[in-house]
Amino acid sequence: MFFYRGVCLRPPCDPSKFVAEAVKSIPPSGIRRFFDLVSGLEDIISLGVGEPDFITPWHIREMCIHSLEKGQTSYTSNYGLPELRDELARTYYKRYGLDYDPASEILVTTGVSEALDIAVRAVVNPGEEVIVVQPSYVAYVPSVILAGGKPVIVSTSRDDDFSLTAEALKPAITSKTKAIILNFPNNPTGAIMEQEGMEDIADLVVENDLFVISDEVYECLTYGGTHVPFSSLEGLKDRTVMLNGFSKAYAMTGLRLGFAMGAPDIIHSMMMIHQYSMLCAPITAQVGAIEALRNGKEEMERMVREYDRRRRFIVKGFNSIGLECGNPKGAFYAFPYIGGTGLSSSDFAERLLEEKKVVTIPGDVFGEAGEGFLRCAYAASLDDIRKSIERMGDFVEELKQ
Ligand SMILES: Cc1ncc(COP(=O)(O)O)c(C=O)c1O
Repeated sequence: MFFYRGVCLRPPCDPSKFVAEAVKSIPPSGIRRFFDLVSGLEDIISLGVGEPDFITPWHIREMCIHSLEKGQTSYTSNYGLPELRDELARTYYKRYGLDYDPASEILVTTGVSEALDIAVRAVVNPGEEVIVVQPSYVAYVPSVILAGGKPVIVSTSRDDDFSLTAEALKPAITSKTKAIILNFPNNPTGAIMEQEGMEDIADLVVENDLFVISDEVYECLTYGGTHVPFSSLEGLKDRTVMLNGFSKAYAMTGLRLGFAMGAPDIIHSMMMIHQYSMLCAPITAQVGAIEALRNGKEEMERMVREYDRRRRFIVKGFNSIGLECGNPKGAFYAFPYIGGTGLSSSDFAERLLEEKKVVTIPGDVFGEAGEGFLRCAYAASLDDIRKSIERMGDFVEELKQ
């Protein structure tokens, strides 16, 4: 019926009609758009990429290589290698007194990215509200939408050093609120939370019977203050799933390794999705992660000291060229205020790229609350940071003329 004299008469189709509505409704990543603008340009300095400029420490790579030489190329348990989960349990007990059972309360994932996706899918029913605190990492809103939930935005501001206050959170809580996604130390602001403010948030969480998805991927990158995991607060352990990973602290972004720690019911539900979508995290990366936890502290601290040096330099640099910049206490991002120049974040970042060849990310990519700011990653060499400050200084001066 579809052929006439050997010619196919089946009608052509528009494949876009097969794309699910949920996918069509998620916003494109503003970061990606910016990297597209860069392609083809020369003499670019990038403060754009949110990943360490270090390569994975040699002793970690060496263990990965050895594991391949030994022929360790199989699947692992869906939960991850038992030795890795034991090591994670030991590490978190030692660091914070957190007592997670490696058999039922830890799941090894393909980066925090996967952990986030399956944590949200494991707890959110269609129509339920999830509070997303912004400015924040670009994946939170899409992951809630893809799970059928409704993201509700709560903004932080530089008046509070971008930390979350109970006053800001309270009005966003409704009878439909199921969970809240937190990210401290924060991408893009570098903000951390002090214990006192966290206790106020914890009270609200308990009063309103909420669940917390706490992305603590920058846990090890703090400067001065000590990180407090949300799950370490009294009564919060079973209400919180901590998402964490090796990408930032151990410069292991491409190895794609993360983990989640939480109550057995939550970890089991996440594993139920993980076993069908991912099966397990790559074994080579899991072997590397064991080595990172056992012997990686010194190298990790060396990288953190280097970020700290750059952090002081970049903050001083921005303030010296008239771009007000607070002191980020964690992660590896500075978040200078550019609103005083009269340009929007995206106009500023686009013109800076075109005219001075410096890549930064406009703050509004991380939510409306980021408008007026730029995210500048200082996971770049001191030399590049110095040059980019000089170029930005020239740019700001030229804007005044
Ligand atoms: C806050 C935050 N969470 C998660 C991720 C993704 O981490 P992973 O490489 O472990 O998937 C990033 C990456 O930039 C991030 O900034």
